[in-house]
Amino acid sequence: MTQDIEPSGSLLAALDRGESLPSRWYTDPAITEREITHVFRKNWNYIGPLSQLTMLGDYITGYAGGVPVVVVRNERGLAGFVNVCRHRRHEVMKGRGNAKVMQCGYHAWTYDLAGGLKRVPRSASEPGFDLSDFPLLPIRAETLGPFVFVHLDHEAPSVQACYGPILDIIAGSGVLLDRLVPHSREEWRSHANWKTMLENYLECYHCAVAHPGFNAAIDVRPDAYKLTAHGLFSSQTGQVRAAALQGKSKVALYDVAGDVAQSQYHFLWPNMTININPGFPNLSVDVWNPDGPNATRGISEQYFGPGVSEEFAQSLIAFNKQVAKEDDDLTDSVQRGLLGGFPDRGRFLTSSEHLVVHFQKMIVKAVAQ
Ligand SMILES: [Fe+2]
Repeated sequence: MTQDIEPSGSLLAALDRGESLPSRWYTDPAITEREITHVFRKNWNYIGPLSQLTMLGDYITGYAGGVPVVVVRNERGLAGFVNVCRHRRHEVMKGRGNAKVMQCGYHAWTYDLAGGLKRVPRSASEPGFDLSDFPLLPIRAETLGPFVFVHLDHEAPSVQACYGPILDIIAGSGVLLDRLVPHSREEWRSHANWKTMLENYLECYHCAVAHPGFNAAIDVRPDAYKLTAHGLFSSQTGQVRAAALQGKSKVALYDVAGDVAQSQYHFLWPNMTININPGFPNLSVDVWNPDGPNATRGISEQYFGPGVSEEFAQSLIAFNKQVAKEDDDLTDSVQRGLLGGFPDRGRFLTSSEHLVVHFQKMIVKAVAQ
């Protein structure tokens, strides 16, 4: 199945004409491999909330382009490491929590919170063995508001330089990022290419057709709903519908009346999305990782402002899950179409789907030769 990758010039010219990437880009394992190397390992990867890294020894594990990573708070601040033992390459830390040292569960090689290797059972009798030769490999760990990211490249621009202006846009929604409280977190898996799923996220042309509840809550008409590319991130903003505020929606809705009247849906290249919905202060994060070409593994986190009721939280989570279910049905179907291979290319309406075109151009620039 693997073929040479088309030159970027012809792919970019096709995108300018509104022609999508060829179907193979969504089904070929060789493309996914190149994306992991050239997209996920060359960009910032969201790991978790700063609020879970406040005490000395707090740590969060995760993956960046398939590389196990850990972020820990030590005496000097946040520190990121490849979460793989220098001995036999077992993962050192699991999940998230608090620890005095980082000890591998395989042979008990033990690292301090700065990544230095401090104790190796039986090493005293090993000729020429020096603990200082085998620290955990350091990586970048930086924060954007309440979110912690890692980067495998020490020369990359800062997370602030990549996405900084998003903080002011989020503040404009009425959600105070620094006051948000993590509520819940879950992992999910879907049966579509990660790009199929994010390209669905990046347009609301389908909202009136496929999301009756969402369409009742948010004014998705083209004049009211704005889609803006900002380079490494993009933003969709809409207003709550007046009928929803007045309780006159034709479909049952959660209580949309609250301090937040604007909805915001942000995409941070390459695989993080941030959602804010009308109502009481709320925010959700999704992370989308390829699991081979035909599946995606994700993480969803829900945050709410202080004092927001559990009843509101549950009703908004149910609303988000309903939208996600509707989207999964769409993207599963698209993936089946892509797997068939005919037609080889789709045709965008660039007035409504320009964020998808922007995304595909970024993919081409990263992946094509
Ligand atoms: Fe959707």
